[in-house]
Amino acid sequence: MAVIHINDKAPQGTVEPEIYGHFSEHLGRCIYEGLFVKPDSGIPNVNGMRCDVVNALREISVPVLRWPGGCFADEYHWKDGIGPKEDRKKMINTHWGGVTEDNSFGTHEYFELCRQLGCKTYVNGNVGSGTVQEMSEWVEYMTFPGVSPMADLRAKNGHPEPWRVDYFGVGNENWGCGGNMTPEYYGNLYRRYQTYVRHYDNAAPLKKIASGPNVDETEWTEGVLSTCFKFPQPEEAHGFLDGLSLHYYVHPGGWTHKGSATEFDEDTYYATMRKALYIEDLIRMHGKVMDRYDPEKKIGMIVDEWGSWYDVEPGTNPGFLYQQNTVRDALIAAVSLNIFNNHCDRVKMACIAQMVNVLQSVVLTEGPKMVLTPTWHVFHMYKGHQGGTLLPTSIDGNRAVGTARDQIPQLQASASVKDGVVTVTAANMSLTDAREVTLTFEDLTPAEAAGTVLSGEVHEHNTFDDPDRVSERPLETKISGRAVTFTLPACGVAAVTVK
Ligand code: AHR
Repeated sequence: MAVIHINDKAPQGTVEPEIYGHFSEHLGRCIYEGLFVKPDSGIPNVNGMRCDVVNALREISVPVLRWPGGCFADEYHWKDGIGPKEDRKKMINTHWGGVTEDNSFGTHEYFELCRQLGCKTYVNGNVGSGTVQEMSEWVEYMTFPGVSPMADLRAKNGHPEPWRVDYFGVGNENWGCGGNMTPEYYGNLYRRYQTYVRHYDNAAPLKKIASGPNVDETEWTEGVLSTCFKFPQPEEAHGFLDGLSLHYYVHPGGWTHKGSATEFDEDTYYATMRKALYIEDLIRMHGKVMDRYDPEKKIGMIVDEWGSWYDVEPGTNPGFLYQQNTVRDALIAAVSLNIFNNHCDRVKMACIAQMVNVLQSVVLTEGPKMVLTPTWHVFHMYKGHQGGTLLPTSIDGNRAVGTARDQIPQLQASASVKDGVVTVTAANMSLTDAREVTLTFEDLTPAEAAGTVLSGEVHEHNTFDDPDRVSERPLETKISGRAVTFTLPACGVAAVTVK
């Protein structure tokens, strides 16, 4: 028996809904086919947005959507994607398969998608190959409410009202695909570019996100922050720097031999889970650097790309990054989200990569067909955390599982409270052993408990022919005195609500 103790007498910060955010790039079949189709494609859509996909995404309450990239962002010239579709420039998507990008999905289409999803907006600007003027004009185009050249152009293109940009990314991976810069050079560019990212709506200024480190490269974090903090200090300059991104992908076999999404052995499974848990070390590592510059934690850590990255499905375009999604991915999502919740004092947003048909997607499509992945179910089960207040958890009786090389804790959890309801989410990473779990509370005497569970043989996944093989089912919970008990199956994720 393992005991997850929830300290409901010591509530912590807010689990920002944005921790459950998503990322969509002009990459493979994420935007085109996955989210956006030709209105006359025969696939039901509203203004080009697939109804089946939008409905599935609305069910998991997508809080924020990052767009247009990724590496694509630093090659994207937004003016190519506005105005009459037949006049839009065609370009080569050099990063992702060298395919023709016809720019039929652009700024107006992105805001329409976010409107249909009911989510916040996170637009990523181009530092690598774009000018300050271009970035400045994009922000003016999107957000300026009065008369100006860009606002007039927006009106001419059919949208007189400004949109709301909640977050604006100043470049992406500028240490690599975004220009191969040094941290100090990027830090200086950040200072310059962000100056012209204007807050036209002072009542709700957009939040500016600097391009952050890759994995464990704390020199980047240090170099960018030391450059940005020389002058002005963020506290002196409202809206100077609101977030620093962090990217981390789980490659079971390393970057060059990532491994298959569906065929893996026990060793690879436990290596994958150890790598998934490593994101907590990264948050601590980069958090320590951030704490030195920003002890009050005003600058968010924005994990705007995370998830599993395997070899592409056999027979698919290597540049499209299309992969299947198994119970293993559900566990990666479960432990990552628990970690983000538990570090919500610093982690203010996280965007899984990517929303549809690319890397660890929540939805896969093929022509008119759509399937929800095990990862979608985890987002569905964890919805109750969005906007909740974090409650610290500790686990007694946890044990190590895994192989001689990769030992990991069997259980991992997080808890939050919202409107008097406590949500506890827990993962059992053992391939073989179920575990009796007891939830105990410092204060609460449980009157009601309910739960859902997702589990299966670790390779199981949903296909277009067998779409519900892996899905949530009710979890039997029992209240005994001041405790709630349940059985968490091997390779299982549980979400329990208690009040
Ligand atoms: O998500 C795929 C790619 O991974 C993104 O374009 C880039 O930012 C990262 O390297």
